Amino acid sequence: MAPPFPGDVRVLADDDALLAELASHLLARAVQAVRERGWFHLALSGGRTPESFFVRLVTDPLYRAVPWGHTHIWMVDERVVPADHDASNFRMIRETLLEHLPMRRRQWHPIPAEASRPAERYGAELTSVLGKEARLDYALLGLGEDGHTASLFPNSTALNESTAFVVESEAPGTVAPRRVTLTYPALNGCRDVAVLAMGVEKAAILRRVADGFAGTGPGIASLPMCGIRPADGDLTWFLDEAAASRLDAV
Ligand code: 6PG
Repeated sequence: MAPPFPGDVRVLADDDALLAELASHLLARAVQAVRERGWFHLALSGGRTPESFFVRLVTDPLYRAVPWGHTHIWMVDERVVPADHDASNFRMIRETLLEHLPMRRRQWHPIPAEASRPAERYGAELTSVLGKEARLDYALLGLGEDGHTASLFPNSTALNESTAFVVESEAPGTVAPRRVTLTYPALNGCRDVAVLAMGVEKAAILRRVADGFAGTGPGIASLPMCGIRPADGDLTWFLDEAAASRLDAV
């Protein structure tokens, strides 16, 4: 059977095993980045799925070896809401992960979503820390049931961005329709992209995304996830059996 997606696909029986697999992968890449370059630049998504992963990272002694003191935390995307809003991605990441880690505030890089020209500002912050290529080490992505990833939604003009690393985007019909997001140039420039999808509610869209990658279904405009193809990096899918349940026939 051909792998359903480009990259490495890991399907684990249950959430516990899956989160452990992802945490081990992230730990190995973080240690390698710090050994080779001194710092680990990690971009995180919001949404519901990663919450239990962040809790696992701070509570499981196995992952104490993540070199948090040498890690910068970036945002994959943010909703344009006040910083303490329930829908704020950074609020969730701060409360579940960052406040429990030995890091200085200057290692946190929230998107200034409510400021003027937030995308331009965040792009400038990325290049001032990482240099003009803004090459992140690791991005953790989720998958929406409509095929979006980051805040790259179907048929959005953000999908056509070919130079800027950050743009403003729209998420029609959601509780927070205005977004700021990393673009394909930023995400596909990462050394590692990990996609985490859990639960049977992701099974149908994963199947459509597999068809999209295979060229037998709609492409990037309808399924923005299909535009994720790191140019010179690794793509790894972390799926539980429920999410992967419709991939067998690919
Ligand atoms: C966001 C996200 C988004 C998310 C998916 C999956 O801010 O909305 O970063 O891309 O990863 O919508 O969300 P769930 O994990 O909640 O299903």
